[in-house]
Amino acid sequence: MSLLIKNGRIITAADDYVADIFIEDDKITTIGKNLDVKATQTIYAKNKLVIPGGIDPHVHLDMPFMGTYSSDNYETGTRAALFGGTTMVIDFILQTQGKSLHDALKEWQGRSNGNALGDYSFHMAVTDFNDNTKAEIKDLVEKEGITSFKTFMAYKGALMIDDRQMVGLMNEVKKQGGMVTVHATNGDVIDFLVAKHKAEGKLSPLYHYLSQPEITESEATGRFADMAYHTGVPAYVVHMTCEGALNQIRDADKRNQKVFVETCIQYLVLDASLYDKGFESAKWVMSPPLREKKDQETLWAGLNQGTVQVVATDHCPFMWEQKKMGEHDFSKIPNGHPAIENRMELLFSEGVKKGRISLNKFVEVSSTNAAKIFGMYPKKGTIAVGSDADIVILDPNEKHTLSAKTHHMHCDYSGYEGWELTGKCKTIILRGKVAVDNNKLFVEKGYGQFVKRNKVSSII
Ligand code: URP
Ligand code: ZN
Ligand code: ZN
Repeated sequence: MSLLIKNGRIITAADDYVADIFIEDDKITTIGKNLDVKATQTIYAKNKLVIPGGIDPHVHLDMPFMGTYSSDNYETGTRAALFGGTTMVIDFILQTQGKSLHDALKEWQGRSNGNALGDYSFHMAVTDFNDNTKAEIKDLVEKEGITSFKTFMAYKGALMIDDRQMVGLMNEVKKQGGMVTVHATNGDVIDFLVAKHKAEGKLSPLYHYLSQPEITESEATGRFADMAYHTGVPAYVVHMTCEGALNQIRDADKRNQKVFVETCIQYLVLDASLYDKGFESAKWVMSPPLREKKDQETLWAGLNQGTVQVVATDHCPFMWEQKKMGEHDFSKIPNGHPAIENRMELLFSEGVKKGRISLNKFVEVSSTNAAKIFGMYPKKGTIAVGSDADIVILDPNEKHTLSAKTHHMHCDYSGYEGWELTGKCKTIILRGKVAVDNNKLFVEKGYGQFVKRNKVSSII
């Protein structure tokens, strides 16, 4: 099988030029002007942007959480991702406290094997660090290609580890060549505020937001960065939302420490005024919560300054019936919102089209940096000879409207209902095969492959 993409405007994190791309089987084999080759299939991409397939390194598919499961599974979630130009995701395995990391790995393999349409990998969330789990890290890095280890500084009693466990894990992960990532919010302070609000009868979704003030995130981010500095482990903060937290990382940078930062599309484009809608606000109950306009500006600036390297989604959808579990108590609303399908087009429309980020930055933060940070570059994350042919052909001028009626995510509402965007992912190619073209799907469940990742470092 061969595929020729003719005359597209190729954008990588570094380049911007017009050329043809020749793909044989699953790899890009030639790039050049007016290529004289015979291909099984030709796509004409004049006036279109040709970019690397999006990589979303923060999704939760079919995840047991807060007494229910996130509503997109591997099939529906990776299918929706493809429609939105994301060809690969990294999901989170959650260790059950008291059980092994390998038990959890088996469970997630059971959910994902044969079900994904798009490519995927796993982070391992260590929720119970002890001598047994310590002994498992090496095998996960060396044999399974799982090189990033997620920690939670919140969700006490379910996912949170304490600082003693954190430092122990960091030492072992550094030794084995991995990275520690973190949900950085102060779980004890949040639990105190949740209990206080409930005791005062303040039970609406607004109090989810008011129970997680900026300080809970900035304090934990600084503490995490300090522990990473002390141990020397490569470190990454997931779903950063606010100025206070980013300033902690700017301080870490001053001592020549590198802590990678991910934000999510919702924190760039939505704000806390959405918590003023009564129970409808449950659609945006997520942790950390949406913040203020000033925080959005800080995050856009962070992307341009290079202190924020990745835009993910933290895709963790729940149907409206599931959200209603917290109708009378905000602390029972399952946390998370649907975005896996919308990330690339929202970032393009709100970022590139509105002049906030360049085209090269768009590619860097939606694909290339995630591939570099998580040990899969240049197989993934760029358009180059020898790389996997994961490519999105994007029409930069097509206008469209986001809606739950037309999206492919298994979620009966959209956090962006009625938003008008400019720029549409038209053709999505995964490992040399057209997966989506003009809103039609051409791959089946099982096409998606697990990607083993390499060891990582703090330098990308
Ligand atoms: O609200 C969120 N973020 N739900 C998913 C779990 C997490 O904390 O990432
Ligand atoms: Zn989190
Ligand atoms: Zn998450």
